Amino acid sequence: MEITLKAPLDMHLHLRDGDMLRLTAPLSAAHFAGAVVMPNLVPPVKGIASLGAYAERVRTAIEEVDGNCAFAHYMTLFFRPYSEEELAAARETEVFFGIKLYPAGVTTNSAGGLVDWSAAEPTLKCMEELGIPLLVHGESHGFVMDREAEFLPIYRRLAEHYPKLSICMEHITTAGALRLLEEHENLCATITLHHLLLTLDDVVGGSMRPHLFCKPIAKREEDREALLEAALSGNPRVMFGSDSAPHPREAKECCGCAAGVFTAPIALPCLAALFAKHDALGRLQAFVSDNACRRYGLTPPQKEITLRDEPMHVPASYRGYGQTVVPLYAGEEIPWRVVKDR
Ligand code: NCD
Ligand code: ZN
Repeated sequence: MEITLKAPLDMHLHLRDGDMLRLTAPLSAAHFAGAVVMPNLVPPVKGIASLGAYAERVRTAIEEVDGNCAFAHYMTLFFRPYSEEELAAARETEVFFGIKLYPAGVTTNSAGGLVDWSAAEPTLKCMEELGIPLLVHGESHGFVMDREAEFLPIYRRLAEHYPKLSICMEHITTAGALRLLEEHENLCATITLHHLLLTLDDVVGGSMRPHLFCKPIAKREEDREALLEAALSGNPRVMFGSDSAPHPREAKECCGCAAGVFTAPIALPCLAALFAKHDALGRLQAFVSDNACRRYGLTPPQKEITLRDEPMHVPASYRGYGQTVVPLYAGEEIPWRVVKDR
């Protein structure tokens, strides 16, 4: 069996900076036609000049490996109160995609995130008027399994208060988030590969698996099933966002393991295997590209990726530039692989 995907997109990707960027950006660019690049660097991307400079570093990192590689890097700003002038200027910036909001302290490198929602009002109003998408890490500071559920009322309030603002519920992990999605046209959602595959049992139910630890944490089997059904059904407001989040091996395999699962180089083969297993290969194109293109009016580079149901051996790690990152399914065999790209 084979499938050719047109312009696959990763709508939520961490590429980091420096040597980690040089290692990971080409791996995404090899399989995807574009990606929404997250701004949670240290310090975060909080201005148009730093967004432009980061976009340039992403482009350079990819060109260093493949000068002909067509890859659209859709860049994001880290949410802070922005003036109307700043937002208008951002919108005119070619690589700019939207603004990512992190409640302060909920995940990796989010210490500078939002504390006071009332201070966010003028910026959100202005984003609504200018048509700038808002992307949200929707977790509270509560009990780890309840954090997304506790954030849903905030999503609801945002959706009702800013009816024309396009709001993306990033990396949703619960059936409850999917129910909310159905209530408001201005909400959409990204779903990761790992949340389609894993539950909390996989992370800590047996021996502890640091490479499966991420935020939001994987939830219950019924949540995983609901997410899978939404992805397989071709729901137009559900899009693939890997949340591939590389951390150096030593930051994962230690006491105080960093949150993030690295999936970028195996995401498409794993998705093809999953969709094929559920007899839904015909709807993979919608999940990995068409829904996002329609929602955001994107015109990514014309890149075709063919996948086939032949085994791929996943490397034990990806190495380069002094960095080592361990992917999901490291050292294992997965049943599909990429056969060609152009
Ligand atoms: C992400 C990271 O490492 O930047 N970590 C994660 O567990 N997903 C941040 C995020 O998206 O929450
Ligand atoms: Zn993320």
